[in-house]
Amino acid sequence: MNREVWNERYRGADLVWGSGPNRFLVEVADSLTPGRALDVACGEGRNAIWLAGNGWAATGVDFSAAGLDKGRRLAAERGVSVTWIEADVTAWEPPGEYDLIAAMYVHLPAGVRRTVHATLVAALAPGGSLLVVGHDRTNLTDGFGGPPDPDILFTPEEIAAELAPLTISRSERVTREVETEHGMRQAIDTLVLAERTA
Ligand SMILES: C[S@@+](CC[C@H](N)C(=O)[O-])C[C@H]1O[C@@H](n2cnc3c(N)ncnc32)[C@H](O)[C@@H]1O
Repeated sequence: MNREVWNERYRGADLVWGSGPNRFLVEVADSLTPGRALDVACGEGRNAIWLAGNGWAATGVDFSAAGLDKGRRLAAERGVSVTWIEADVTAWEPPGEYDLIAAMYVHLPAGVRRTVHATLVAALAPGGSLLVVGHDRTNLTDGFGGPPDPDILFTPEEIAAELAPLTISRSERVTREVETEHGMRQAIDTLVLAERTA
């Protein structure tokens, strides 16, 4: 989906992804000492805002101005400070080094995704952690929701291979309960956590 489609999606009053953080991010960040965090393709900022509220110096980057505006409003309501950057992450150099980088549900064509992951690996501070979570390819047939295009979905093995210069500490499929009008459904995500140990 291009920038205009995302802007259109974010123009409504409701938060598309809700105001609470992703639970896998919380689980990972809670085990780390807060430092500088980058939320890549942050959307309406739910994860960056949670990080900022939990001691992190958080930056959120997204190419949707409408998403970032909602992030600014939510951060102000919560009384937290986040650095917001409007940029296309496929052609962007992060302005610094980060102790935690989170790429949550960023679905790009595989070639572009590999380039973005290389950029994120390079932006990780020594000892820093990179968390990638997104809809697993098996979600298409066995799970709920997510994009229908298999080419932009991924697997733990593919993501772990792309983060190769890092030490992989988790590479797995995880499930997430989703509340729908027909009751609870299960979504299947890829989760890869990697650290710069050298
Ligand atoms: C499924 S949403 C996830 C938002 C957020 N990470 C979350 O979990 O709440 C995907 C986000 O990726 C952003 N995005 C997609 N392609 C992008 C690109 N090339 N550069 C920057 N942001 C992009 C969209 O604007 C959208 O906010």
